[in-house]
Amino acid sequence: MKSVCWLNFRRVFSSMVRQHFAKECEVALNKQINLELNAFYRYLAMAFHFNRSDVASPGTFRFFKTASDEEHQHAIKIMEYINKRGGDIKLMPIEEPKQSYESIKDAMLEALDMEKSVNEALLEAHAIASANNDPNMCEFLESHFLQEQVDGIKQLADYITQIETSECELSNYLFDKYLLHEDQSMHKK
Ligand SMILES: [Fe+2]
Repeated sequence: MKSVCWLNFRRVFSSMVRQHFAKECEVALNKQINLELNAFYRYLAMAFHFNRSDVASPGTFRFFKTASDEEHQHAIKIMEYINKRGGDIKLMPIEEPKQSYESIKDAMLEALDMEKSVNEALLEAHAIASANNDPNMCEFLESHFLQEQVDGIKQLADYITQIETSECELSNYLFDKYLLHEDQSMHKK
């Protein structure tokens, strides 16, 4: 009984493993968990929008479902890290995502915007870790998040360009074919 009370006391005041882990770093990581879970939820909504029978875009469903799973894993990774450092995990409410999308491009643009915000927060968390002289947290963010984030932003931007190019090129191509077989005179006799 006495040891249980001691364990509770220790949980309230400090973890045994906690060492040079600033409160400010813990707050930044908890904020990051919330952003990752928000991203997980928004990608899930996107995925299942494109899975609807009246939308039926299996490739886009697959892409966003994978993204959703990855964001979930990111949140778990940070939660594991906070426990490893003897911090306290604080889960906060996540926002209701948009339920439908006009087009694949619309969803990709929203995803790009979201990934940039997530990256902004990661860079902030890294700056907080540096300011608090926490090389372990810097290394954690660098090796698991920062490069992946830059790669993801590039991939989304590439997809948006490809969609825009195909929209534009395809319509130009079809219009050109139409003109080829049409009477080209603007002033028909
Ligand atoms: Fe993420």
